[in-house]
Amino acid sequence: MSIAVLRTYISRHKEEYAAKFNLKNKFQNEVQDEMQVTNLEKCQGELRASIVLEALAASGLRAIRYACEVDGIGQVLAIDKDKVCIEICKKNIILNGPATCSKVAAHLGDARVYMLTHPKEFDVVDLDPYGTPSIFLDSAVQSLVDGGLLMCTATDLAVLCGEDRDVCYSKYGSYPLKGKYCHEMALRILLACIESHANRYKRFIVPVLSVYMDYYIRVFVRVYTSPIAMKKTTLKLAYVYQCVACDSFHLQRIGRATTKVREKVRSELSSF
Ligand SMILES: C[S@@+](CC[C@H](N)C(=O)[O-])C[C@H]1O[C@@H](n2cnc3c(N)ncnc32)[C@H](O)[C@@H]1O
Repeated sequence: MSIAVLRTYISRHKEEYAAKFNLKNKFQNEVQDEMQVTNLEKCQGELRASIVLEALAASGLRAIRYACEVDGIGQVLAIDKDKVCIEICKKNIILNGPATCSKVAAHLGDARVYMLTHPKEFDVVDLDPYGTPSIFLDSAVQSLVDGGLLMCTATDLAVLCGEDRDVCYSKYGSYPLKGKYCHEMALRILLACIESHANRYKRFIVPVLSVYMDYYIRVFVRVYTSPIAMKKTTLKLAYVYQCVACDSFHLQRIGRATTKVREKVRSELSSF
C-alpha cells in the first residue's frame, strides 16, 4: 500500500511541477524573449529526485523496498536510535546490492532531533512507531518540503478507540467516543492531531488515503504551507454529540465560513 501511494505521489509531484512551469512559461512568454524561455526550460529539467526519510527504520525493510521498488526516488535515509537496528539495517542495505547502497543510507540517532535539525528537507517522511506517533509529529511536519507526503502509522488503536480516553486526550488532544464508528473516529483524531501540529508552522494537511487495518491505522497526508488556508482548519473539525441510549449522533462544526459585512457591502455597491 505504501509503495502504491509513494508511486502515485511521485508521479503527481512531477505533474504539479510541470504544470507550475507551464503556467510560468505561459505568463513569461508574453513578456520575455526567446533566450529567457530557454533559461526556463533549463529550470524545468531541475526537478530533483525525491528524498525519503524512514524515521523509525528498525531493520530498514521499508527504506530498502522504497529504494528498490519506486522509480523517481533519489535518496532514502533510514534512521533508528537503536544501535543493533542500525547495524542490521546497514547489513541489509549491502545485501541488496550496489544500486541499493547508492540510494539508501542508515543513520543512528533520535529521529526527532534529526527532523528538527533538517527543516523542509524531505519530500516524504514515513513514521512507523511502536504505539503512538504523537511525539514525532511536531518535528515530522517541519521536516517536509511544501507539498511533501507524510505517511504515519498508529498502533495504539485501543486508546484511539476509547479504551483509555484520558490517555487519548493527552497524546492526541481529542476525547474519543466508543461508538460503532470508533475506527473512523480514530483516523479523524490522528488527522486532527497532525493538522494541529502543522498549523503551528503555518501549514495544513490534505489527507490522501486513510486506512484502518487489523490492529493499526495508517494515514497518508500532504503537508502544505499557507497562512491563509491554515486559518480554515476549524471548518474541518467538529464535536460529536452521541446519544447514550441509541446510535444517533450529531456533529457540531467548530468553525463556519462567513463573508465579512464590509466585503458584502462593497460587492453590492460595485453591482450598481
Ligand atoms: C515499529 S519499529 C519500526 C518498524 C519498521 N518501520 C519496519 O517496517 O520494519 C519502531 C522503531 O522505532 C525506533 N525508535 C523509537 N523511538 C525512536 C526515536 N526517537 N528515534 C529513532 N528511532 C526510534 C525503535 O528502535 C524501533 O526500531
